[in-house]
Amino acid sequence: MIAIGCDHAGVEMKKAVIQALTEKGFELKDMGTDGEPCDYPDMAKTVCGLVASGECEKGILICGTGIGMSIAANKIKGIRAALCSDSFSTRFTRLHNDANVMCMGARTLGPGLACELAEIFLTTGFEGGRHQRRIDLITDIENNN
Ligand code: RB5
Repeated sequence: MIAIGCDHAGVEMKKAVIQALTEKGFELKDMGTDGEPCDYPDMAKTVCGLVASGECEKGILICGTGIGMSIAANKIKGIRAALCSDSFSTRFTRLHNDANVMCMGARTLGPGLACELAEIFLTTGFEGGRHQRRIDLITDIENNN
């Protein structure tokens, strides 16, 4: 199950991403907003809570730029959120950073690109090996600050 949420800036893009991913066979838990104004840190907390607890495997967050969502998401223990705006970075944040949440900007990306990036994010695995040591170092920072 993939958790997805947006603020008021990301409603249309979220709809497009949900439709594209559902057609590809993914199951999504839509946490809103459906249009009413929403503060992006609240939505980041909701979606990332589902990922951090293990209830959802990954999360997708959309706001105007994706930046507010990524800043908020990365404050939550266990979350490695990546701002995704191109296919190379999206692939490598899965391969090397084992990112578990992707953030996208509805005012910076078109819906077609957002759907493609979401699919790349959800279908690319973590490489492990030397990259696991680096993830463990990130976890050490998280546990000691
Ligand atoms: C909302 O207007 C906007 O500030 C928000 O969607 C986002 O871009 C924040 O980073």
